[in-house]
Amino acid sequence: MKILIALTLSIGCLNALLAQADNVIAGAPLWSTPTRGSEIDQEQDMTKLWRIAGSNKQYSQQAIDDKFNAPDWNEGDHAAMPDIVKHGKKPKVWACASCHLASGLGHPESASLAGLSASYIERQLEDFSSGSRLDYSGHMNRMAEVMTMEERKEAAVWFASLKRQDFLDVVETDAVPLTVIDDTRMRTVAVPAGVESINGRIIEVPEDLEQTKLRVPVSRFISYVPKGAIAKGKNIVTTGGGKTAPCTVCHGPDLTGGGLIPSIVGNFASYTVRQLHGFKSKTRISAEMLPVVSPLSDSDIVNIAAYLASLKSM
Ligand code: HEC
Ligand code: HEC
Repeated sequence: MKILIALTLSIGCLNALLAQADNVIAGAPLWSTPTRGSEIDQEQDMTKLWRIAGSNKQYSQQAIDDKFNAPDWNEGDHAAMPDIVKHGKKPKVWACASCHLASGLGHPESASLAGLSASYIERQLEDFSSGSRLDYSGHMNRMAEVMTMEERKEAAVWFASLKRQDFLDVVETDAVPLTVIDDTRMRTVAVPAGVESINGRIIEVPEDLEQTKLRVPVSRFISYVPKGAIAKGKNIVTTGGGKTAPCTVCHGPDLTGGGLIPSIVGNFASYTVRQLHGFKSKTRISAEMLPVVSPLSDSDIVNIAAYLASLKSM
């Protein structure tokens, strides 16, 4: 009996530890699933009050970074946030808007939720909770697990009320700025600056780091993608490229989906890359997507993600 209890306890501890750890998305390139780096700009005055154009609010960086009270620069732009979105639920669930922003647009290391349906969002939260979808950062799995059905629904309905907006500039290039990953997994331009070969990757960085760190609702990002990627991606997405089903068959002619089929346009390209690898490695279980991604090579996935990011979805 004692042994059994000890065993159960140690499995419990192990689970708790694993829930905090990164999940491996087999086959996904490291640049799409970054591990936590170290804090950048430690010199910053965390109590200085900031303002942004078009808002009468002021917040310190310390308040902006509060995981249980997300900043809301433009309250009038959306319906009142449910408590779970604004404050999360202590101790484990952080405010959704802290990472996905009050606009739902998010950052490349998280995901854009604006433009998705409530039923799809709710389904994803269920899948994160059951483990049939693994989030590389582990955050969504550990949080969804302790959310009630009611909380999932409230959050889903609220995010579904947000409109997708244009926030990405996609640039085909051979060379990219040198970048580093910060303690929130966000990729930023390195200081001092440098240049390196893109080498088949997609590199996404904030256009204005200061604004992005202030969690402004619409924070623009630039997606550097390999030369020629957009046209090659377009071919696969619209025709299947002779190797898979055209994406339009299920995601619709404008790729904005509907119901349990998500919009796939205008999201961060690195997010799309890690999802397609997730389906392929079955760390994200989908009977519909598995046969679609199985024939795709790593560079097909980069090209598809580049093309989808380049489409404006408004
Ligand atoms: C610590 C940051 C963080 C917080 C807080 C957070 N998320 Fe996420 N969320 C992520 C990351 C990272 C991903 C991307 C997972 C992946 O790449 O598979 C994600 C993905 C998602 C997705 C999947 C989107 C899609 O297109 O399939 C949904 C839905 C979601 N989050 C909902 C929520 C809700 C609801 C909350 C609040 C309870 C929340 N998130 C809080 C980081 C966060
Ligand atoms: C047979 C129908 C079908 C086809 C064909 C299809 N999809 Fe999907 N796709 C789905 C479904 C269903 C989901 C939702 C899976 C889930 O709930 O996890 C999905 C999800 C996705 C996602 C995840 C989006 C997010 O927000 O996380 C991406 C990316 C995606 N599909 C890309 C594509 C691409 C690219 C193609 C073409 C090469 C394609 N799909 C073809 C049915 C399809």
